[in-house]
Amino acid sequence: MTTPEPADRVLARASLAEGNPTGWFDQLYTAAARGEAEVPWTRGKPGVDLTAWAAEHPGEGRRALVVGSALGDDPELLAAHGWAVTGFDVAPTAVAAARDRFPESTVDYVVADLLNPPPAWHHAFDLVVEIMNIQAMPRDFRPAALKSLASFLAPGGTAIVCEVAEENMDMATWQSPPWPFSRAEVESVAQDGVRLVSLDTVRDGARYWATFTR
Ligand SMILES: C[S@@+](CC[C@H](N)C(=O)[O-])C[C@H]1O[C@@H](n2cnc3c(N)ncnc32)[C@H](O)[C@@H]1O
Repeated sequence: MTTPEPADRVLARASLAEGNPTGWFDQLYTAAARGEAEVPWTRGKPGVDLTAWAAEHPGEGRRALVVGSALGDDPELLAAHGWAVTGFDVAPTAVAAARDRFPESTVDYVVADLLNPPPAWHHAFDLVVEIMNIQAMPRDFRPAALKSLASFLAPGGTAIVCEVAEENMDMATWQSPPWPFSRAEVESVAQDGVRLVSLDTVRDGARYWATFTR
């Protein structure tokens, strides 16, 4: 007997075949809300790497933007550390679920697309957090996504970029999504006045963790 393919793979394949890089995310969150699928990246708590970073970097009221805010765990973590947080996701169902989970939240949850972001976000954030989202879109969309990401960062601010590291993957057997990053691709966030501060690996070399400033 074969194991049924997970819903995220089935939905992603159909969405990508139609040339839609992001449509499957909302379909997956909607199916999960009905109890018909699992969202593989939801943990019910913030990521451990961001948790460690936030403990050392209080926001003191500065503005943070969380890309791919999902069910709200990472935005809420930063809000608890004093950041004035905007979290956005292309999936309206995820944004609604985050608002429902945290009704008292100070986070501004917004439906928006990294590939076509609000112009008001240009150079507007002291902290920009991109964890495992751009890698979830096919590579053709990567240059536009990275350009948007760089554009959000205010002078003197910090951008965090964390993606699966291609150099440590067995790409012969790898199934996308996600599409892992090379070191050079992570470094390419340094554009339009943004510069690389650090580039390390975390999770035993499985992910890059890079910081940038402007
Ligand atoms: C793999 S999940 C990662 C979620 C979270 N950042 C984490 O680390 O667990 C990717 C998230 O990004 C969202 N997303 C994908 N493409 C996006 C886009 N173009 N603009 C905004 N959000 C997007 C998806 O809906 C999903 O919530």
